[in-house]
Amino acid sequence: MSKTFDIGLDALTGAAAQSDWSGHPAQASGKSFYIETFGCQMNAHDSEKVAGVLMERGYRSTENAAEASLILFNTCSIREKAAHKVFSRLGDWKFASKDKVIGVLGCVAQQEGEEIFERAPWVSLVCGSASYRKLPELIAEIEAGGRRVTGLDLDTDETFETEITRRDNPFRAYLTIIEGCDYACSYCVVPHTRGPERSRASDAILAEVRRLADAGYTEIQLLGQTVNSYRDPTPRGLNFTALLRAVAEVPGIKRVRFTTSHPNDFQREIVEAIDETPALCEHIHLPVQSGSTRILRAMRRTYTREEYLEKIAWIKAAKRPFSITSDVIVGFPGETEKDFEETLSLLDAAGYDGVFSFKYSPRPNTTAASMPDAISEEEKGRRLAILQERQREIQRARNEALVGSSFEVLVDSHNKARGQWAGRTTGNRTVNFTSPHENLLGEYLQVRVTRAGPNSLVGEHVL
Ligand code: 5AD
Ligand code: SF4
Repeated sequence: MSKTFDIGLDALTGAAAQSDWSGHPAQASGKSFYIETFGCQMNAHDSEKVAGVLMERGYRSTENAAEASLILFNTCSIREKAAHKVFSRLGDWKFASKDKVIGVLGCVAQQEGEEIFERAPWVSLVCGSASYRKLPELIAEIEAGGRRVTGLDLDTDETFETEITRRDNPFRAYLTIIEGCDYACSYCVVPHTRGPERSRASDAILAEVRRLADAGYTEIQLLGQTVNSYRDPTPRGLNFTALLRAVAEVPGIKRVRFTTSHPNDFQREIVEAIDETPALCEHIHLPVQSGSTRILRAMRRTYTREEYLEKIAWIKAAKRPFSITSDVIVGFPGETEKDFEETLSLLDAAGYDGVFSFKYSPRPNTTAASMPDAISEEEKGRRLAILQERQREIQRARNEALVGSSFEVLVDSHNKARGQWAGRTTGNRTVNFTSPHENLLGEYLQVRVTRAGPNSLVGEHVL
């Protein structure tokens, strides 16, 4: 995703989050850690699991990097800008690193490997996500005085299972069901940074969901680069839809979301399951990347414009009013004005409720990086601005049509200064609203939409 998360792991607490790990209090010790996270929700959740591993080893978490004995950067390399940011953050610790251990995790760690020690010799640990299961050993090595400790193995069929996960959000719990990716989209670095696709055992997933429900969580977000390619490796052999239904049946779970779906594995039965199961949220994030079949082929996306739009038609024909969101890349090598026009017309045809749009960024080891006919940065910028404006108008119209309707929201934040609460609908829309009541965090309430802009809804608590 385009957003950079900066998670000070102490920042968010709450009854549910605390009870999730309070059975395993950090021992009093001098060891403390700070994690900064860049990139997608998978990374944000990996950081939560890494924090759990460290707490199990007696580390205390701190929001203050300056006082931490271990500083970790969990990094993203999806676009060049994200990868650059990491080296600039590492630079900040060049002179303060004598009494600290500095580590680089995540996608830049995997991609740059030991190169990182050359560029930033004050770093002692480099570990990619496919090696996180080895973290306890790697940390032990560091504690024994090890320098230049690495976990860079990509060739794995294992997943990252840990007893304790330190969750940041008290209401919504992330839960990985599938790691890595077996597609080979020509622009994408993920198969090179997160390794091959591995699904977790369904019984381990369902046991975790039950623990989360017992700890007070009501919303679960299932995660995977291609979440809907899930295939249970145990004899139960659940497919993605069966797993969705099973998760939704766990007592106490009111909402189940999932991201990111690959259009190729998006089956009609997913829509049917959501239609039949109120706890499954009526939102699909289905990245299209381009509206031109010619460019989709060059991207190796494995579907045509028409095939994609057919899947959108299934969702639109559902009984529930789904929201649909997408990711789009502009300026892929060889993208003509006509191809770009096709992407614009696809936005109209799909009628998305939200789009994350990006300028194509060439990435190391990807086949697209050596394709001819690169588009200039200026032209990519022009196309991105046009696309975003077009989508803005689509969202404005879609959101305005919601004025007067009421929705159930899960309240997840409060802005004291503005006297406003914010909550999300099952369709993943954020509604800012006022209420005469207090202590609404974590509550499910009815809110009526009174005003709408392209990016936000404003409403009032229905009493
Ligand atoms: N350049 C630009 N955007 C990219 N994405 C993935 N790789 C690239 C790249 N090389 C976008 C895709 C993907 C989202 C997470 O990031 O749209 O769905
Ligand atoms: Fe997440 Fe890695 Fe992709 Fe970045 S490159 S969005 S961290 S999987």
